[in-house]
Amino acid sequence: MTPDDAPAAERVTAVGFHELDTRMFRRSWPDPQLRPPERGAIWVDRVRHLIGTDPGGCWVAERDDELLGIVVSFVREKMWLLASYAVVPDSQGLGLGQALLAPALEHGRGCLRGMLNASSDPKAVRRYHAAGFTLHPQMFVRGSPDRTQIPVVEHVREGTEGDFDLMDSVDRRTRGAAHGVDHELLIRQFRLVVSETSSAQGYAYLDGGVVLLAATDRRTASRLMWESIASSDDVLIGHITPENSWAVDVGLAARLELNQEGYLALRNMRPPKPYLSHGALM
Ligand SMILES: CC(C)(COP(=O)(O)OP(=O)(O)OC[C@H]1O[C@@H](n2cnc3c(N)ncnc32)[C@H](O)[C@@H]1OP(=O)(O)O)[C@@H](O)C(=O)NCCC(=O)NCCS
Repeated sequence: MTPDDAPAAERVTAVGFHELDTRMFRRSWPDPQLRPPERGAIWVDRVRHLIGTDPGGCWVAERDDELLGIVVSFVREKMWLLASYAVVPDSQGLGLGQALLAPALEHGRGCLRGMLNASSDPKAVRRYHAAGFTLHPQMFVRGSPDRTQIPVVEHVREGTEGDFDLMDSVDRRTRGAAHGVDHELLIRQFRLVVSETSSAQGYAYLDGGVVLLAATDRRTASRLMWESIASSDDVLIGHITPENSWAVDVGLAARLELNQEGYLALRNMRPPKPYLSHGALM
């Protein structure tokens, strides 16, 4: 995949993920072409960043000039990560997905660990299981919070680029690999908040809920999640593994709805905690 392929690749994911997007986000865009442009723009920006920082992990399948499938993978500190993977609906289930995943997995051959957010598509789950990933079911909370339940949030401040070293160190402690250059992308796209006391640290990117959260203890993680709930009337917080039951506690205390969707797929590692992963950058 080249940077010029990114807009057409975004269209492949819009069509390939249409059913999942509609179910997960409860926003009905009946025609995949109607996926909100701002979501598409974030996708293109992210994929160009990943091609720029790790081109060997990104591949396309094409017939004539038409893209039929895409895979976007990348490596950070000996961890292989899968950001996006889709085949257009008419070509699914015919082996194209397997052919695309093979060079992406090969790109991560020297890695110790692997991590990705899997959809509930049974075809995707078969591919990840066959590649040696263990599947950890995930929950999400969403809805309009009961504002009378939101506590005063202390020790949380706006974050800046000056916090990246602290954040990378929290990443290594929770996830086993820093996000590194990905923080440069995330801070452009989302609001960053940081919590730092003498004994605990954590950070979160927020956008109508939590986009990514990592902390050294559950109390700090809960504080950051409360900040995300306090700053939005329409909250969606996903990627909650059972190991992160503190997030279920906070979500239900705010009277959000608890649901299940997808899996955190891991190779040679335990589910990170306290941690809510980013959908594509994990
Ligand atoms: C996931 C995806 C990229 C895989 O691509 P694909 O071309 O469909 O994959 P393949 O045909 O190589 O493999 C699909 C596997 O599921 C099996 N399969 C096909 N149809 C199936 C169905 N309806 N239910 C369960 N399994 C099915 C196939 O037999 C094959 O398994 P096998 O190799 O063990 O026989 C594609 O299906 C897709 O775009 N899905 C929607 C978007 C998505 O969920 N992406 C993953 C994001 S994490």
